[in-house]
Amino acid sequence: MHVHYYAFVVNKIPVGVLGASGYAGRELCALILRHPDLMLAFATANEQRGATVRVAGRDVTFAGPDDVRLNDAELIFSALPHGASKEWVTRSREVGARAVDLSSDLRPGHGCEGIAYGLTEINREAVTGASLVANPGCYPTSILVALAPLIQRGLIVDGAAIIANSASGVTGAGNSPKREYLFAEVSEDFRAYGVGNTHRHLKEMTATLQSWGANADLVFTPHLLPVARGILSTITVPLKEPIGDPLTPWRDAYATEPFIEISERTPTLHDVAYRNVVRISAAPIAGTRAPMLLVTSAIDNLVKGAAGQALQNANLMLGLEETAGLPA
Ligand SMILES: NC(=O)c1ccc[n+]([C@@H]2O[C@H](COP(=O)([O-])OP(=O)(O)OC[C@H]3O[C@@H](n4cnc5c(N)ncnc54)[C@H](OP(=O)(O)O)[C@@H]3O)[C@@H](O)[C@H]2O)c1
Repeated sequence: MHVHYYAFVVNKIPVGVLGASGYAGRELCALILRHPDLMLAFATANEQRGATVRVAGRDVTFAGPDDVRLNDAELIFSALPHGASKEWVTRSREVGARAVDLSSDLRPGHGCEGIAYGLTEINREAVTGASLVANPGCYPTSILVALAPLIQRGLIVDGAAIIANSASGVTGAGNSPKREYLFAEVSEDFRAYGVGNTHRHLKEMTATLQSWGANADLVFTPHLLPVARGILSTITVPLKEPIGDPLTPWRDAYATEPFIEISERTPTLHDVAYRNVVRISAAPIAGTRAPMLLVTSAIDNLVKGAAGQALQNANLMLGLEETAGLPA
């Protein structure tokens, strides 16, 4: 029995999580502890160092980032805040570990070109051969995966403004205490923020759309939705000409994708909660002079928008089954 247990443990690949006490980091720990081929080498926190929490039926004790040996892990996930993450990703790479950075520090539009951008379904080949991946933001995942088929097929009017309105649950803001995210401030209310194209995810989306050759502007307005998790994006796109079956571009582009669902019905947050999927629908907009399409896209911000997609990328980087350990 003992020998069996030992063999079971040594065959697993050790991975570490920096920022494990945060919302994204905790989700990662839960996925890793349930993963058939991975084991959790370490989990770090800053203010919560020393605390023990129950994750996926196990006790996980958070260490300080300086108290772990980074080279105990073959791959390190950094779920640290932007600004703090880059230094730890560099240190991880210096000890020879592969790294997936969940922060925005290394994403497109942040002056770090040449790093694989982990929008898995679009960049699978680059991710598979990479030792460092910049994991996409939650809003960009919901919007870019939805827009890619229209751009690839050249269906959007040249010079158009694409209007993306997204509503996110409160875990999107992280779990460090802030007055504006207190229950009484958030519940029973609904508000836009980052208005006038000022949200920090805009750079990432604009740079990515440009790299795809899109000739359009993006107007992005995020909203704070009083639920714990989930993002719903509704995206208005001016089309060169009407599309017969509005779902065809997505059905064609994502026919073999295990984590993209195309739906006749507008997706809801219940459809995607706790799952590593992007669920997309599209409908023509009636009563306008020029043809327009309304694309809707739903994700769980902590799964496909963060920890799940990070694990999907890590699976590819480690030569594992892409879907291993991921809730479809
Ligand atoms: N939340 C989402 O939906 C989401 C989606 C996509 C990407 N992301 C990105 O993922 C990262 C983590 O987000 P989150 O929402 O999980 O944030 P969070 O809940 O605020 O967690 C941040 C984590 O980093 C630790 N930390 C903070 N400052 C640190 C420092 N200076 N040195 C070392 N550790 C430090 C925190 O430790 P303590 O808890 O001990 O303070 C905590 O473990 C961010 O870069 C975020 O942009 C988040």
